This record gives sequence, structure tokens and C-alpha cells, in this order.
Amino acid sequence: WAFHCTHPTLSRAQRSSSVRSTCRRLHRPPCPRPFSSLRMIAPPHSLPVSLDYRLVSETKEWQALMRHATEHIQRVHLRELMRDERRVQALRTEYDGVYLDFSRQRVTEETMRLLYALAERARLRDKIDALRAGKHVNSSENRAVLHTALRAARSDSLVVDGHDVVREVWRVLDHVRDFSERVRRGEHRGVTGKPLKNVIAVGIGGSYLGPDFAHEALRTDPVANETARGRHLYFLSNVDPVDAKRCTQDISAEETLVVVVSKSFTTSETLLNARTMREWLWRELGTAPEVVRQHMVACSSNPDMVASFGIDPQNAFELWDWVGGRYSVCSAVGALPLSIQYGFEVFESFLEGARSMDANFYDTSRPLLENLPVVMGLLGVWNMSFLGYPARAVHPYAEALLKFPAHIQQVDMESNGKHVTLRGDVVDYAVGEIDFGEPGTNGQHSFFQLLHMGQVVPCDFIGFIESQNPLCLEGEPVSNADELMANYFAQPDALAYGKTAEECRAEGRPEELIPHLVTTGNRPSLSLLLPRLNPYTTGQLLALYEHRTAVQGFIWDINSFDQWGVELGKTLAKRVRQQLNQSRYFGEAVSDHFNASTRELLERYLRGQVG
Ligand code: F6P
Repeated sequence: WAFHCTHPTLSRAQRSSSVRSTCRRLHRPPCPRPFSSLRMIAPPHSLPVSLDYRLVSETKEWQALMRHATEHIQRVHLRELMRDERRVQALRTEYDGVYLDFSRQRVTEETMRLLYALAERARLRDKIDALRAGKHVNSSENRAVLHTALRAARSDSLVVDGHDVVREVWRVLDHVRDFSERVRRGEHRGVTGKPLKNVIAVGIGGSYLGPDFAHEALRTDPVANETARGRHLYFLSNVDPVDAKRCTQDISAEETLVVVVSKSFTTSETLLNARTMREWLWRELGTAPEVVRQHMVACSSNPDMVASFGIDPQNAFELWDWVGGRYSVCSAVGALPLSIQYGFEVFESFLEGARSMDANFYDTSRPLLENLPVVMGLLGVWNMSFLGYPARAVHPYAEALLKFPAHIQQVDMESNGKHVTLRGDVVDYAVGEIDFGEPGTNGQHSFFQLLHMGQVVPCDFIGFIESQNPLCLEGEPVSNADELMANYFAQPDALAYGKTAEECRAEGRPEELIPHLVTTGNRPSLSLLLPRLNPYTTGQLLALYEHRTAVQGFIWDINSFDQWGVELGKTLAKRVRQQLNQSRYFGEAVSDHFNASTRELLERYLRGQVG
């Protein structure tokens, strides 16, 4: 409960307080109004950590950072900051092989000190502890957020709302292990007796992006590549019928297992795609109930809907309301397709990597500088809310991470794309970056021009010491991987230092070209360097970025774990779907409930008129 005094002469900060006694103390002179004039604001569900401010921007720690940004950081170029070697050495940290250099951020040690102070004021450690303990940090849905329990060790225990969630997790993981091994050994076969060597995973959003990113990261890892020999994994996410065609056109239904992944089992795109796959199987293999029972399985928290679809309840793999879709890759959502493709041991190694990063994040007794997700989260807050950079890019210098930016885009933008605090107050500071990215060096030949000369977009560079595919051609000055990494090392400096007019002149460039050649620099980035991309480090990266998002949400005091914004579009699509049905099959005119623009678009679409 929060008590907001309605006294008109008080400032917003003074009017707000978490308890009545504090509220009275804040008033100078004490509020003459009786208790009844204090408006009691009930949050939808009690919040696990209470704060002594309404908006974090009202705190003195936030104000100090604002001043620091304008009075110091905005006046100094990264070129100068990088001259101070002591500073450069202070702005780096490492955990379990993951090395983070953030010296090319527009920060000093003083900035970091002020950011840590903000973290203390925002009670970041308490919030992390609440997350870990299974408190209902997703307050608008009154849910715990326990994706880290999905990668807890079997020997761990975490009792939440009366259930040992770790035991539940391992019950399902054992089920996944058993089923995936039976498929891989050819014990669970298709109806014609053929082994199931293809898997089509049907799902969208969090039920697709995480598994797809992990699959791409693993498929060229030498060990995983070997264990996947002869097997194929496809993802069907888009409801565009072309996606279904692309998935099925080169494979035989006899050898295919369809995994329907939907936490709710109500997502319209996924269910239509699941029905499309069922039709395909029926068409190819007949309509006997065994076809669906042998060729379709599901990951869902809705067993009734799974059963009514015709899927054998024995082949339904459970998840729970405390697993958010975008945080679900470590549940059966990722475990099932990835274990069938690569074997359960490979997936376990991915879980172990994530668990390692969880341990770093949850160790709130250590200095914040040693907590990688916290450092990256605080830098995110700094760049967005204090330096005003609305976007952020992630560039893995590893082709196998080609789907990582898309996954992080959902993790971060669905989590932190919010406009109110947990209590429902509208924020007056910028939250939620626009995330995008592309593997290097491809990105360099696409949008890097803008990063060097146009908008300032803080960048994450992710590199690896060893390649998944070491290759060195005779006569070449460096190996292929060194060629790639040369760019990984060069780009952050190009962004930070830029090129001055004097440097261009010293190269003998014609004077009229100089304005076109100057790059301003002063563009922040951070560099992550890991030993090699394998299942373990893929798990580490996943958890690092998941927790970074949580840290930012905790500082901004928003709910990073709900996604109400996506509902409106779904509701409107329902109305359009009804209209399309009525018009196509019953000849009804487009309703004037739609606005003139949508009406015209719909009419053209229904008439089939292109020009
Ligand atoms: O529309 C967004 C969303 O709700 C995501 O949060 C979720 O990952 C996705 O849809 C799919 O949901 P489900 O797993 O329930 O099909």
C-alpha cells in the first residue's frame, strides 16, 4: 500500500510516501489534514520491495547523476577519457571466463560510483533477492518470475507458494531426457515405422526466438554438430502460409515430429500453424488418431487444450505460470527441440552456463563491479536515461550468434517497453531501449555507416578467442577467425576516437572532402570477450542479457515481466478476422465500425485489387 497525500501545496516528492508516518514526517510543516485526506493507493498486488519514493527520478541519487552527466561527461570526449590508463584498467571486470571491458562507455569511476549509489537507493540487491526467492515481482499478474529455477542444479531446492519448483523442473527435464533419447534412438517412431529425424518446432515470440537462437549457436559447435548428425530442426513461427511451406517442402512427414510450443496454447498464430501441420500429417499419413499421437507433441502450461488438440497427454511437457515466454528457453520450450536435435547432455551444458551467470547475478554480497549483469544493466540505464541514447545494438562477431540479436530484442523490448512504474505512476524518464543488431562483420556493411556518422547508438561487441571452425588458408596473412576478430577490435576504437579534420588533412585529403570524412567519435561501446562459443558460453550469454534487462527494470521501477501492450493488437485482429470471415463467405460489407482508412484497405484486399 502506498499513501499519497493530496495536500495541494506539496511537491510531488513530498506528497508521496510508502507509509503514513513517513508521509507526515515529510511535510514541512506537518500536514494539517486528517488521515482521510491521504489517498490510499492499492497496487494490484503487494510489491515485494517497498521504496521511499514515487519516481526514482525524484531521488537525490538520480539528480546527482543528471548533474554529473551535464557538468562532466557531456563535456569530455572518449578520446580524452581513454588516455587515462588507470581509468581504463578500473573499467573492466570478469566472471567465469566472461571478460567485460566497458572503458569505451562514456563513464568515469565517479560515474560508476554514482550509479552504484543509485542502485543502492533503488534497493537493487533486495529486488534481486526477491526475484531469486520467488516473490511475486511480476505484480500486475501476481506471479513469481523464476526462469533461473529452470537451470538450478538437481540438488537445489526452492519452495515457492508451497511447491519445490526445482523438483518440478527436474521432473519435466527427466521427461524431456527420456523422450528425446527415445526419439534419437529410434524407439519412438512415426506411424510408418520410420525414425523421426526431422523436428518442426511450432511457436512464436518467446516460444520460438530463444530456441532458434540457441539452435543456431549450437549447430556449428563441433560436439553438438556431431551429436546432431543426420537430424534436422526447423522452426515454424510466422502465420504467413509461406513459412509452413518453407518448413515442409523438402522433408517427408513420415520422418517428422512436430513440437507445438505454446505456454498458453491459445496463441492464434501458433494454433493455426499447429492445425496446418496436423493437416499436412493427415494428408500425407492418413487420419488415424496415431498420426497425431506419434507425430505431434507439445510444451505448454495448458494440458486440457493440448489433450483436446489430440496430442497424447504423455507427450505433453509442462511449464508453469512463473516462466515468462521470453524467459522460457531453459524450460521444455528449448529443452525438447534442442535435446532431440543435439542430445540432452548438450542441452545440460547450456543450462550449466546459464546457471554460472545466475550465480554471479545472485551473489549480492560481492561488490557491484564484480556483477556482470548489474554493470551492464547500470550502463544501460546511464546511456538511456542520462545520456539520452534511445537505441542500443548488439554485434556478435560470430555468425553462429546470428539469431541472438533477435532474441535479445524480444527479451529486452517486451520486458522494458513500459510507461508506468510498478505502482502505476507514469514515468518521467526514458526507459526501454530499441534493440537491434547483426553479426560482425556483416553489420559493418549494412548499418555501421549510421553508427559512425549518424545517430549515436551504444554498441555491445561480443567476440570469442577461439573459433568454432578454425580455418587458415595457405598464403593468407592471418587466419579467417583473426580476420573476423581484427574487425571486432577495430570497430570500438573507430566509434570511440573517430577521425578529426587534422587527421584527414595529414593524410593529404582534398579540403572540400574533409567535412565528409570527419567522424566525430565519442560513441560508446562495450566489449565482451569469451573463450569460445559452445553450449556453456551460449547459456552464459543468455543469462547475462536476461539479467541485464531485469537490472534496468529494477532501477526504473517498472515491471519487466508483464506484456499487456501486445493485447490490444490481438483484440483488434480478432475483429478483423471476423470481418474477413463474414465478407468472404457471407458477402457482408465491411462494417463502418472500422475507420475510413482501415475500411478502404480491407475493401481493396477483399476485392483483390492491387493497383
Ligand atoms: O504476444 C506476445 C506473447 O505473449 C509473448 O510474450 C509470448 O512469448 C508469445 O506471445 C507466445 O505465447 P505462447 O507461448 O503462449 O503461445
